[in-house]
Amino acid sequence: MSNIARHVAIIMDGNGRWAQERGLKRVKGHERGAETVRSVTTFASNHPEIEVLTLYAFSTENWKRPKMEVDFLMRLLNRYLKNEMNTYIKHQIRFETIGDLSRFPAALQNQISLMKERTKEFKRLTQVLALNYGSQDEIARAAKSLCEAKKEISVKSLQESIESSKFGPVDILVRTGGDQRLSNFLLWQSAYAELFFTQTLWPDFNPDELETIISQFKQRTRRFGGI
Ligand code: FPP
Repeated sequence: MSNIARHVAIIMDGNGRWAQERGLKRVKGHERGAETVRSVTTFASNHPEIEVLTLYAFSTENWKRPKMEVDFLMRLLNRYLKNEMNTYIKHQIRFETIGDLSRFPAALQNQISLMKERTKEFKRLTQVLALNYGSQDEIARAAKSLCEAKKEISVKSLQESIESSKFGPVDILVRTGGDQRLSNFLLWQSAYAELFFTQTLWPDFNPDELETIISQFKQRTRRFGGI
C-alpha cells in the first residue's frame, strides 16, 4: 500500500531573501509569504489525503529579530486571520495553533481565539500554525508536568503530554529556502517523517511543488524501524 500523506508540516523559510533579491524590504517577503500560506492551505483542504497541515510561522527564536520586523509579523498575522476567516469557512478548515501565545499582542490573541472558535467543527483540514513555538521547550514542559504529577516518564506518557502530539505524527516535513535543518520544529512528531528540502524560497513555493513532493513521498519506502 502506498504512503498516506496525512500530516504535512512545513518550515516556511526564505521570505527575507526573496525580498532582498528584488531590492525590497524583508517584510515584503513576509507579505508574499502570507499569500503562499493561503494557496497551500486551500490546496491542502482539497487534497484527499491531507488531514493536518502544520506551518512554522513564528519560532521562539524569532523574537531576536529587529522589533520592526517582529511587529510587522504580528500585524500581518492579525490581518491574515481577519481576511481569511471566510476562506476557512468556505473550505471547512479548522484553525489551531501550537506554542505559547501569551507573549503576543492582545488583539492578535483575540483574533486567534475567534478563529479557533468559529472553525472548531470543521473536519476537511486542520491547519495548525506554530506560533512562538519551540519543540525542545514543549518536550521539557511535558516532562516537567509528568514529574510534578509524580507520573512515570515513558514514550506513551510523554506522547500524551506533548501539546502538539494531538495532531499526530508528521508524514511529510518540507523545508523551503535551501537549508537542511529542523530548527526545533516538531522534533517528537517527526521521528519517522519523510524529509524534503527545496531550494525554492517560500514566496515562490506553490501547490504544484507540494504535489510533486507528495508524488515522491509515495515512492519512498517507509520502514518505521522495521525491515
Ligand atoms: C522565514 O523566512 C519566515 C518567517 C520567520 C516567518 C514566516 C511568516 C510567513 C510565511 C508569513 C506570515 C504567516 C502567516 C501564517 C500569514 P526568513 O525571514 O527567515 O527568510 P530568510 O531566511 O530569507 O531571511
